[in-house]
Amino acid sequence: MTPSGGESAATGVEDLLRTEEITMNFGPVVALRNVNLHVRRGEVLGLVGDNGAGKSTLVKILTGLYKPDGGRIYLEGEEVRFRSVQHARQHGIETVFQDLALIDDLSVYHNLFLNREHTRGGWFRFLKNRTMRAAASRFLDEIGVDIPSVDAQVAKLSGGQRQAIAVARAVRQQHIKILLLDEPLAAMGAKETSLIIRLIKSLSRKANIAIIVIDHNYTHLFEICDRINVIQHGQVTLDKSLHEIKLEELVEFMVQSFRRQIATGDAK
Ligand SMILES: Nc1ncnc2c1ncn2[C@@H]1O[C@H](COP(=O)(O)OP(=O)(O)O)[C@@H](O)[C@H]1O
Ligand SMILES: [Mg+2]
Repeated sequence: MTPSGGESAATGVEDLLRTEEITMNFGPVVALRNVNLHVRRGEVLGLVGDNGAGKSTLVKILTGLYKPDGGRIYLEGEEVRFRSVQHARQHGIETVFQDLALIDDLSVYHNLFLNREHTRGGWFRFLKNRTMRAAASRFLDEIGVDIPSVDAQVAKLSGGQRQAIAVARAVRQQHIKILLLDEPLAAMGAKETSLIIRLIKSLSRKANIAIIVIDHNYTHLFEICDRINVIQHGQVTLDKSLHEIKLEELVEFMVQSFRRQIATGDAK
């Protein structure tokens, strides 16, 4: 296999997605420098790091929103250059952005079928609605999302339930390979958080996809992830599977690097 193939040197298991030396600048700001990241099928990779470390920029590059200034992205061993979010979606990359892009006035099941619903009138439309409704209900059951009714207006749901619907919509895409979640647990209460954590875990077990999730909370990441990458100042500074690192060790790593930043006058 060539160096650009999907083989991971560490384990020999094929990477679904891999980046090589990704860089990104915003004017004088270096947001990412030489980021090498990889994720396998069935794996949940957590990205953690301070505000401004470059996590969202990385996700936006992987989702086709930004073109990197340098570096390469490989999907199943083939180099890809995403022209747009749509283009990345065609390659099976789905992202749940923070604004979620749900339509508040519509029902849960209409949101699940957004952009794909059939819009014929009369009796036929009624039948289509019934089919969509049943399919939506079945699908949410399957992935373990518990909401009062698929007829409920999305506006009436809690933050956690809305997040769950947005995630469900992303994973309904036929050719999904990679799901990107940028801070899916931000601003959620304990009950909501556990709903989303359960959903992510069940998806990673059921669907043969890779999930990349950004979160601030190390405890949450230890519940959800198989592997964690720490991003600091636009670089991956730690890449450990959860077999290799304990929560206390990760916290200690962050504290130590914060101390170094203070010592070098680099702390914000
Ligand atoms: N669209 C943008 N224009 C200019 N600077 C940006 C833009 N997006 C991000 N940045 C800068 O790039 C760096 C990384 O930001 P970001 O990826 O949002 O970090 P994180 O998600 O880890 O908090 C920060 O210094 C931020 O200010
Ligand atoms: Mg961010």
